[in-house]
Amino acid sequence: MTSFHEPDTLAIRWPAKINHVPKDVFVRQDVYEQEQKRIFRGMEWHGIGHVCEVPNKGDFRTTSIGEVPLLITRDQTGAVHVFYNACSHRGAQLETAESGNKKDFVCPYHRWRFDGAGRLAGTPDPEDYTPGFKRENYPLGAPRFAILHGIIFVTLHADTPPLEEVLEGYVDHVAEVLGGDGNLRLLGYQKLRFKGNWKTYRDNDAYHAPLLHSAFRMLNWQGGEGRQFANARGHRGYVSQLSLPPDNGFLKDPSIIAHIGGGPRTSASLMMFPVFSVIRHMNVINLRYINPRGVDQTDINFAYFCREEDDEELVRHRIRQSSNLLGPCGMVSMEDVAVFHRLQIGCQTPGQAVFQKGVHDEYNMSYEYRQNDETGNLPAWERYRQVMGFDKEEA
Ligand code: FES
Ligand SMILES: [Fe+2]
Repeated sequence: MTSFHEPDTLAIRWPAKINHVPKDVFVRQDVYEQEQKRIFRGMEWHGIGHVCEVPNKGDFRTTSIGEVPLLITRDQTGAVHVFYNACSHRGAQLETAESGNKKDFVCPYHRWRFDGAGRLAGTPDPEDYTPGFKRENYPLGAPRFAILHGIIFVTLHADTPPLEEVLEGYVDHVAEVLGGDGNLRLLGYQKLRFKGNWKTYRDNDAYHAPLLHSAFRMLNWQGGEGRQFANARGHRGYVSQLSLPPDNGFLKDPSIIAHIGGGPRTSASLMMFPVFSVIRHMNVINLRYINPRGVDQTDINFAYFCREEDDEELVRHRIRQSSNLLGPCGMVSMEDVAVFHRLQIGCQTPGQAVFQKGVHDEYNMSYEYRQNDETGNLPAWERYRQVMGFDKEEA
């Protein structure tokens, strides 16, 4: 495993064609380790939560970016913080619960005690410590974080450009998908860990949606207009009008796919490089925190929300739709992780993964695509190649 300070030297020759990706990058341990350093601890911003997930003073959540453990808190003044989830004494993981509410965090090893603002509030036996020991010199370590439309973004690198610069044009897209601003309320979570590389999730293109997902096909859901877009930072998005299908007998209770309340009847999805996702699908509002747990293991934490102004009926509908459409047992997306696992097995073979649908020029990148092209992933692959330092072969 690489550490924060270890140099990396890995080199992979990358095909000259923009739509060819070496299968190696899905299965090689050394590639995974370089990703941890260059991407997850590199100059990127990662969405890790929404402020409404810690709504009350004393609330906390634990999470991680790659293998780096983090602690999100709301202190007794109401301010939100992000810390490394490690005691400032000898480095033990400080909090193990996924979430909760507490005034103080006590490390079990030697009982150093921290408040929700990360200050070291007390230690046993301070009189025996180094002369001049001061508690204020030992707060919890903290990465840089920024809040945008309520979403908490973190970067583990000191030199990362400001968040809004890195999001480059996606700030307004995020607001559109969330429904106008960041005033959300948490409905709940679904979680899964799949046996596949994290980039198989990132590659989950629009092309596959009506082909892999029988629910999409049966319901003729993407019956309307749609478009995809991306940029050179590797962010991408799509917006598709969803047709409300005729009563074709597939659903005993079609109200589950009803669209109620105001707002567009669309499926809108953003994926910010490397892999953080903001999604609205009919009445479902969903942030997805995707985290690699090894070269062939990935966690997805689906967080579902309603808007603060929603009435009771809409909240009930969102809960019902959220838990039945998306996520590990959702009618629309349960097939994805099965395919990600097959990719992980299949990518042990030689050669390259090849993208075709919507590729009109194998040597020049485009950034606007049709609804069900698979080209939307290619700018992210090019950005990945650059960040990882892999040289391109001559055309
Ligand atoms: S490692 Fe936390 S108190 Fe010692
Ligand atoms: Fe899918």
